[in-house]
Amino acid sequence: MKRILFVEDNELLLELYGILLADCRDEWETSLAPEGQTALKLLQQSPFDVVVSDMQMPGMNGIELLTEVARLYPQSSRIIISGFSDQAIAADSLNCTHLFIPKPFDVKILRSTLARIGSLDAYLKDDKLRGLAGKMRTLPSFPTLYLEIIKEIESQTSSIQAIAKIVARDPGITAKILQVANSAAFGLSEKVNDPVEAVQQLGMTTVRSLVLSAQVYSSFAPGRLPAFSADALWAHLMKCGDLARTILRRERAEFAEAEDAFTAGMLHDMGKLMLADSLPDQFNEALALAKSERIPLTEAEREVFGATHAGLAAYLLGLWGLPAAIVEAVAFHHSPEQSDLKQCSALTAVHVANAFSNQGGAEALNLEYLAEIGVADRLEDWRETAAELEMELGA
Ligand SMILES: [Fe+2]
Ligand SMILES: [Fe+2]
Repeated sequence: MKRILFVEDNELLLELYGILLADCRDEWETSLAPEGQTALKLLQQSPFDVVVSDMQMPGMNGIELLTEVARLYPQSSRIIISGFSDQAIAADSLNCTHLFIPKPFDVKILRSTLARIGSLDAYLKDDKLRGLAGKMRTLPSFPTLYLEIIKEIESQTSSIQAIAKIVARDPGITAKILQVANSAAFGLSEKVNDPVEAVQQLGMTTVRSLVLSAQVYSSFAPGRLPAFSADALWAHLMKCGDLARTILRRERAEFAEAEDAFTAGMLHDMGKLMLADSLPDQFNEALALAKSERIPLTEAEREVFGATHAGLAAYLLGLWGLPAAIVEAVAFHHSPEQSDLKQCSALTAVHVANAFSNQGGAEALNLEYLAEIGVADRLEDWRETAAELEMELGA
């Protein structure tokens, strides 16, 4: 049984949490605190496995509280519940929390977050991964354009024109978004050249994901490695994002979950760009090793770097405070069995989409995992979906 402490200054919300969580009495023992000081006193009395805090509170805010919790009780997992507009602040607080639940709070999301927290938290704290991240020339900061889009979408007066205007400020990102809008995957009948039209056609949520991945993509300048093509990687990411989302839609997942799968699919191999950018010689060595030894790239990376591109990308996205579902899908896209979450999720979709969009993909699929979460019989259907998308793309 897990001990969980909730910190929330809004009395009504706090009461609501109590009621929602009463359902989970067998799994969690919950305590409630109306503000930071009370929370710290409760922690002093006995340890908690998880501390879930609101961001905006009078007196001590969520970051200040969790920073204190991290210092005094490093073994407690720390979760912040906040609106998307707080993400920049969350990103500043690198060490205090890396799990983030967006408002409005949903008990289902909390439940799956708690299920995944153990495995993901331990994974991102791995010394070898931290060591590798420390070797990066620079860890890019939270993409500002993405943040502006989030703010615009959340604002009362948000409009497609305003979003398109933000996008249009960066020609590289605009080009990437138009490229996606015009890919056959979106089935648009006429060619789109105007960002306003692209936003209209793709929808704000998709544009938000695209801005994030395009901005991450363009923040790296990978050296010219003979065995690595950044353009080919981008094409692979587009395919995976599209297929991962389609898979979850077929499984009738919720809208937000399917969008997470799209974002994670678009980001899952960003670690390769990071390695090619910061440590090109060693990355080249890993590529060569994978080829000569006929082993998966992740295995070669582990030999050369002690960690993999999957972990590295997840580490960065975790630092930025992206939702746990996305970080998890990126972290475990080659090893879904490492996640504690045993149900069909964005991780499942990205794992399958990645395997299908690589040659000889069948080997990379973890059939045991798919059987364990009860979707082994869906595989043929998904394979057909992948083939259909592939045909559309080729058309
Ligand atoms: Fe990968
Ligand atoms: Fe991949």
